[in-house]
Amino acid sequence: MQTLHSNALSPEQLRWPEHMARALAIAGSVLTAAPNPRVGCVLVADLAGPNDEQIAEGWHKGAGLPHAEPEALAQMQGEAKGATAFVTLEPCCHTGRTGPCSTALIAAGIQQLVIASRDPNPKVSGGGIAELEAAGVAVFFLAEFEAEARALNRGFFSRMERGRPFVRCKLAMSLDGRTALANGESQWITGAAARADVQRLRAESDAIVTGIGTVLADNPALTVRPESLPLDENALALTQPSLAKQPLRVVLDSRGRLAPSAKVITEDGHCVVYSLATADTQLPTDAGSGFERRLFETLETKDAAAVTRVDLASVLDSLALQDQCNELLVEAGATLSTAFLEAGLVDELIVYIAPKLMGSDAQPLLTLQGLTQMSQLTEYKIKSSQQIGNDLRLVVDCTPRC
Ligand SMILES: NC(=O)c1ccc[n+]([C@@H]2O[C@H](COP(=O)([O-])OP(=O)(O)OC[C@H]3O[C@@H](n4cnc5c(N)ncnc54)[C@H](OP(=O)(O)O)[C@@H]3O)[C@@H](O)[C@H]2O)c1
Repeated sequence: MQTLHSNALSPEQLRWPEHMARALAIAGSVLTAAPNPRVGCVLVADLAGPNDEQIAEGWHKGAGLPHAEPEALAQMQGEAKGATAFVTLEPCCHTGRTGPCSTALIAAGIQQLVIASRDPNPKVSGGGIAELEAAGVAVFFLAEFEAEARALNRGFFSRMERGRPFVRCKLAMSLDGRTALANGESQWITGAAARADVQRLRAESDAIVTGIGTVLADNPALTVRPESLPLDENALALTQPSLAKQPLRVVLDSRGRLAPSAKVITEDGHCVVYSLATADTQLPTDAGSGFERRLFETLETKDAAAVTRVDLASVLDSLALQDQCNELLVEAGATLSTAFLEAGLVDELIVYIAPKLMGSDAQPLLTLQGLTQMSQLTEYKIKSSQQIGNDLRLVVDCTPRC
C-alpha cells in the first residue's frame, strides 16, 4: 500500500481528496451503524481522462444492511471494471451478516482502491488490503484524511483499540454553573433547540447511561424521539435505518432502588441495570425482554465513607463486550458525572449553558472535592463552541494533555 499526502499528488490524483471528502460526508449522514462503523464509498471511472467521472456512491446504513462498497457496486450493474474506489475504511475481508467487501471489489474489477483509515477490527486489520493487493488492485492510503476518518468512527476505534466505548458526558447548566434547583427540579434549564440537539446526541449513541439519582428525581424516558431531531426531512429519511432501534438505556443502581414502573424500563427499547450483587432489588427477575439486571461483585470503595458502588470501568468493559457499544452518552446528575470524570473515563464533555441564574442554593454542575491548589487543576481543551437557540454548547476534549 502506498501512502499519499495531499501536497504531493500526481496530476491524475489531484481530485482524489475531493472524492474522499465526499465518501466521508456520506458516511457521516448516518447517526449510528452500531455495532458496525460508519463507512462511505465513492466509485470513480475514467480517473486519468478529462471527465474524471464519479459513477456511484454508497454508504453503510446500519447493521445487517449492505456495506458501503456493495451498495455502491450495486448501482453499477457489473460495469465497475477499471474504476477507482474511495472508501473511508479498509474494506472488510470476513463474512459477517454480509459477505467480504474485498471479494466484492475484486470480483467487480476495481483497479485502484484509496482508503482513509485501516480497520482496527482484529478480523480485518490489514487483511482487506492484503487480499486486494494480492489480486492486483493498487491500494493507496490518503494520509491527510485519517484523523477525520477515525473521528467519524471514534466509538468503533475506541472499542476495538481500548476495549471500551467512546464516552461523552452531557450536562446542562445555568450561567452560574448550576444543574438543578435545591429541590431537584431541573426541567428545563435549556431551551427547545438545545434539547433537540441532545436528541441528536442520543440518536448517535448506542447506550445512554444514567444514575439512580436522576431516575428517582426526574423519571426520564431517555428515548430518541425522531420527530424532535434537528434534521430536515431529507436527512431524516437518509438516516431512517439507524433510528429503527432505541439506544440501550443503562441505569447504575448499586443498591437496587430502581422501580419496575420507571420509564427507563417501561418505554420502548431495552434497559440494563447494574447493581451490586448484595442489592435488595424491587425488580422482578422474570420481567421479560424489557430489561436485564447485571449484578456486580466488583466494588468501588474510593470515598472516605467507603460507599460501595458499581465499578464504572467494569460497566464500560461490560457494555463493550456484551452489547458491542461503540458510543456512549452519560446523562446523569452531578454525582455520577463526577465519578466518571474522576475515574478518567470521559472522552468528551458536552456542556449546554443557559443564560439563566439559578442561585447558590441550586445544585452544582459537579461535586469534585479536595482541590486546594491551582496546580491541581486539569485544563481541558475546547473543541467547539456554538450558540444553539438562546443557549451555548461547549464541546470539551477530556483526553489528558501531556
Ligand atoms: N442538568 C443536567 O444536565 C442534569 C442531567 C441529569 C440529571 N440532572 C439532575 O441531577 C439530579 C440528580 O443528581 P444525582 O447526583 O442525585 O444523581 P445521579 O448522578 O444521576 O445518580 C447518582 C447515583 O448513581 C449511583 N451510582 C452507581 N454507581 C455509581 C458510581 N460508581 N459512582 C457514583 N454514583 C454511582 C449512586 O447511587 P447508589 O449508590 O444507590 O448506586 C448515586 O447516588 C436531579 O435533580 C436531576 O434533575 C441534571
